Amino acid sequence: MIINPKMTYSLINGSLVGPEGSVVKGVKSLKDTLRIYANTQGLSEDLLSAINYRTEVYTPETTEGSLQFATSYVYPGTVNGEYFMTKGHFHEISNRSEFYLCLSGEGLLVFMDRQRNWWAERMHKESLHYIPGHIAHRMINTGNDVLTVQACWNSDAGHDYGTIENDGFPVRFFDRNGKLSIEEV
Ligand code: F6R
Ligand code: ZN
Repeated sequence: MIINPKMTYSLINGSLVGPEGSVVKGVKSLKDTLRIYANTQGLSEDLLSAINYRTEVYTPETTEGSLQFATSYVYPGTVNGEYFMTKGHFHEISNRSEFYLCLSGEGLLVFMDRQRNWWAERMHKESLHYIPGHIAHRMINTGNDVLTVQACWNSDAGHDYGTIENDGFPVRFFDRNGKLSIEEV
């Protein structure tokens, strides 16, 4: 028999559409992510309630070996000059790797190993990124539009946010007079 797929995925705007409840949506406003930024003094109420990033996650199965598929939308903006970014994480099961595919926008994918060495790849429409297991990853939106990114990874990977919350990444990215400034910490 031939049946229709349960889900559709837009190559134009990344949106995942499927049966009721199949896509779990998450929204983080700046209020939720404030502690990841270097300087949060004097922010307006408007900025605090702005969307930092949104996610749509489709998890068909959770058993070992299964995959999940998600779209992340990282909004443009800065916090006292520091570009909007995701919290960033290691995977809890640390050998679980991941693919990111950028659909639109401009940014950086920052990688960090357990020894706190960092490097970054430019993200742009159609850039494809492989994130090896054991490597922390964070997206930075350095452009003026939403950075839309599709991700695919093992459903059982989990997220270790605590390590990044405690120790951060060793580098930050700022807009200084319209230019990208890379500041190691
Ligand atoms: C999943 C993954 C992405 C991120 C999403 C939000 O392993 O890497 O789907 O979860 O971009 O970023 P975080 O999770 O760092 O807040
Ligand atoms: Zn991940």
